[in-house]
Amino acid sequence: MFSKVQIAPSFLSADFMNFERDVRMIEQGAPEWLHIDVMDGHFVPNLTIGPPVIKALHKITTTALDVHLMISNPAEQLDSFLSTGAELLTLHIENANGPARGAATAGSSPSIDHIEDPQPLIRLIDRIHDGGSLAGIALNPDTPVAVLEPFISLVDMVVVMSVHPGFGGQSFIMAAVDKVAQVVALARQAGADPLIEVDGGINVQTAPLVTTQGADVLVAGNAVFGAPDPLVALQQIRDAVLKH
Ligand code: DX5
Ligand code: ZN
Repeated sequence: MFSKVQIAPSFLSADFMNFERDVRMIEQGAPEWLHIDVMDGHFVPNLTIGPPVIKALHKITTTALDVHLMISNPAEQLDSFLSTGAELLTLHIENANGPARGAATAGSSPSIDHIEDPQPLIRLIDRIHDGGSLAGIALNPDTPVAVLEPFISLVDMVVVMSVHPGFGGQSFIMAAVDKVAQVVALARQAGADPLIEVDGGINVQTAPLVTTQGADVLVAGNAVFGAPDPLVALQQIRDAVLKH
């Protein structure tokens, strides 16, 4: 059923003092994307990196950058992220009704169960396209797929979060498997064909669970960078998917 999965190693689990070394190393495994986790300490209880580091990263690699914006106020910061040259910027749907704020600890994340007015988020998606990047939209674990409806035909990628965002190395939330199938159904109904990415807890066991439902892109942080040989680990995820 599935011929080729795209892999997006997450640099959250890379060595922050040796980014370039880790980029060069992982490039030997020909990943389709490099996944960059941006956290603002508001949307999620953690802080990571911002536009200057992404810009520097973009200069040293030809691999497409998949930038995951876990920030509460993307409207204010979008221009700086666009100026990095990142190929894809993903917005969280939980900010659609106004800036969302996460809990102070791990294990939960903001969710949304309706959209008051889709226009503000549609305008951000347009700004990303006008700036020359692809646009993604991410759903936290407790946000239902139905809220994607006004946006599904407008985005290039839907990101199903399979952990509460904020940290690497967490366990995969099984409900994400069914959510992938629901995104596929919603996209088909709308005549849309976005890439479907799954982010969090992906390893050789969980990868086939989501690709058999129609996931195209797998983010893998800890399973790749936490392995004794990240290139072997990356290939093992590809192989696990091909066997199913
Ligand atoms: C979680 C991040 C993920 C994270 C995934 O907030 O969005 O991209 O790096 O890491 P693993 O694969 O370790 O769950
Ligand atoms: Zn991510």
